Amino acid sequence: MSDDILGRVPAYLRQMPGYEPIEPIDVLARELGIPEEQIAKLDGNENPYGPSPKVMEALCGFRYYHIYSDPDQRQVREAIGKHLGLSPAHIVAGSGADELLDIIGRMFIASGTAVIASPPTFGMYAFIAHLYGGVFTPVSRQEDFSLDAAAIKSAASGDGLVFLASPNNPTGNPVSRGELDRLLATGAVIVIDEAYVEFGGESFVSLVPQYDNLIVLRTFSKWAGLAGLRAGYGVFPAPLADLARKIKMPYNLNQAAQVAVLASLDDVATLQQRVDLIVAERQRLFERLAAVPWLRPWPSQGNFLLCEVREVEAKAVWQRLRERGIFVRYFETPQLSHCLRFTVGKPEHSHRLLTALAEIGASIGR
Ligand SMILES: Cc1ncc(COP(=O)(O)O)c(C=O)c1O
Repeated sequence: MSDDILGRVPAYLRQMPGYEPIEPIDVLARELGIPEEQIAKLDGNENPYGPSPKVMEALCGFRYYHIYSDPDQRQVREAIGKHLGLSPAHIVAGSGADELLDIIGRMFIASGTAVIASPPTFGMYAFIAHLYGGVFTPVSRQEDFSLDAAAIKSAASGDGLVFLASPNNPTGNPVSRGELDRLLATGAVIVIDEAYVEFGGESFVSLVPQYDNLIVLRTFSKWAGLAGLRAGYGVFPAPLADLARKIKMPYNLNQAAQVAVLASLDDVATLQQRVDLIVAERQRLFERLAAVPWLRPWPSQGNFLLCEVREVEAKAVWQRLRERGIFVRYFETPQLSHCLRFTVGKPEHSHRLLTALAEIGASIGR
């Protein structure tokens, strides 16, 4: 192989920082030398209840895995449109909300485009900016994690692209209608990522037909427990939806994902009961964490709780939880330090987490 083969790849791609993914459960189990069932995976904001039983049934019964999926995603778009009360003309489905971010990057980011996001936030926004040669422009949040709408407004100035998660990962707070209105008025393309909206916060999906610069993203990964199957969608102004469908890969929503989406939308009541359980567990876990003197949880509208760790190194706590088979997310970034993020799981997951935290607390004399 020639030495300079990498040199033929554009420099901005060679130099871009990669996305920092979380490890899959089998890798974690092997690393610790314990069975997969003993792992409390609270690091990926996944839904511990998994897919609806109807999804499992439908996947087993489906007969056309040897046939390409519908590139126009007609059935799925129809079903999602019905679920949202919107025309399917606004909808584009994909392999997770992540793929919709990629399609939006393809549409709006050229070399030098300002891509604005408000850290601490989801790492994919910076990744997409770099992938398409844009200029990632972080606009930090205020002390309480609320948006600095004025600073975003001046950074966006007309032709920028703004990614905002609502509720935000990892801080758990939503974007308000007032903030959104101010940002839409700038004329920049505003992408509201509602990956967690089923767990709390106001949805802006019904506003999309009224604006030509608002895009809302949703996913089946969280509320519907399909993270591993990869199914998400974007709600776009109709002309942008047409373009997005034109430039996406033709069979981007595979047959299994389509089957799973349709079966999930056919069993919303069951999935909603599980969302309700997670929301109730979030409140219970929040109260228990707030009672730990060296932890400070932030209120959250998502299926996770961000927690500031005081008096002890957050990384040491993260490590000691890992040793007990409890995997959580550790943050040490310019905008977020001394913090852990706990995905809200089942009550037994909270019990394990709280017991382990009590042990760690006792070992430091708290
Ligand atoms: C804010 C946010 N958006 C999107 C995603 C990714 O969603 P999907 O699994 O649909 O690609 C995540 C995943 O954690 C997220 O936190």
